[in-house]
Amino acid sequence: MSAPFDRSLTGELADATPEWTVSPQAGDEERVVESALRPHSLEDFIGQPKVARQLALVLEGAKRRGRTPDHVLLSGPPGLGKTSLALIIGSELGTSVKITSGPAIERSGDLAAMLSNLAPGDVLFIDEIHRIARPAEELLYMAMEDFRVDVVVGKGPGATAIPLEINPFTLVGATTRAGLLTGPLRDRFGFVGQMEFYEPADLQRVLARSAALLGVELTDEGSAEIAGRSRGTPRIANRLLRRVRDYAEVEADGRVTRQVAEAALALYDVDHLGLDRLDRAVLEALVGKFGGGPVGVATLAVAVGEEPHTVEEVCEPFLVRAGLLARTPRGRVATEAAWEHLGRPVPRGGVPLGRVTADPPVPGSSSETLFDA
Ligand SMILES: Nc1ncnc2c1ncn2[C@@H]1O[C@H](COP(=O)(O)OP(=O)(O)OP(=O)(O)O)[C@@H](O)[C@H]1O
Ligand SMILES: [Mg+2]
Repeated sequence: MSAPFDRSLTGELADATPEWTVSPQAGDEERVVESALRPHSLEDFIGQPKVARQLALVLEGAKRRGRTPDHVLLSGPPGLGKTSLALIIGSELGTSVKITSGPAIERSGDLAAMLSNLAPGDVLFIDEIHRIARPAEELLYMAMEDFRVDVVVGKGPGATAIPLEINPFTLVGATTRAGLLTGPLRDRFGFVGQMEFYEPADLQRVLARSAALLGVELTDEGSAEIAGRSRGTPRIANRLLRRVRDYAEVEADGRVTRQVAEAALALYDVDHLGLDRLDRAVLEALVGKFGGGPVGVATLAVAVGEEPHTVEEVCEPFLVRAGLLARTPRGRVATEAAWEHLGRPVPRGGVPLGRVTADPPVPGSSSETLFDA
């Protein structure tokens, strides 16, 4: 019964995680390091001005009325601070946070037990809520709306459902795939926070804070160098900082200056846009072997010796967001920016983007302007 609360769920989530230097997902050990770097209050939470301000109002309003706040859904790509915010909600409210995740709730009975064990005002955090099983989801509807659960007693035809009151609580759901949430579930959240990628200036503040916590001396220029390669993601910024710190300690005097950051990141194959070796290999193949495309993802994957799934899930999201690659109905196409980034002359007559249906632009990304026309 207590198993689904277990924090080891984070380990389970990390199993499928590749250990790329610039992966937005966290590896097993990283999750331990990360907890030391998490902000603990809204004041400490850097960036995301819109979500943070809106959330502050939701929490303050509820506190003044002496009620539990509306249920909160946090949605956005990995590593932007959803879990951090969920824990902050608990600490701002002065209540405890019980943690579970969609895939960890195997039976709706487990969820019913969890809900009935909540103390008044507790926060229940369900990570990856889009992966919750349907029966558990249906149980959640009534719990969110009326603070009740149906407990099924007995088996077979004689089974009866006994409604049980539960304490008022706040559900905080996190998802990287808001589109997979069912309508009825989404509608039951009173507040939806859409997390955006971070501006370099905010990432520099994240880095300064982490450097202080880790006892690393970091210059402004050093942090600018790291922030620019962090793909708008605090998790990646913190990871690059740790790599650069190692380098600074072993190869230099421990201070992270621009030169040190540049040398370290070159060693780790992270270029100035934040592309790693595989990202560049994909672009190189696209441009060098296939004239810039269009080419199918399976062919492209063979050319770089990777699984199509890896190319599609690991490399492409950022290449598209950075405006370097477009997914078209006829295959992948390198943009002009890709040719330029690789230091190759853009083909005369331009790149074959005339018939492109680009992926919808990600807010705050550079691809927004590229494909707006
Ligand atoms: N606004 C922020 N200020 C400071 N540090 C942050 C912020 N957002 C994220 N971080 C750092 O990035 C790390 C990852 O954040 P977090 O685990 O909250 O992301 P997430 O959105 O839950 O990711 P996932 O989707 O993989 O679960 C945290 O350990 C924290 O150190
Ligand atoms: Mg998380």
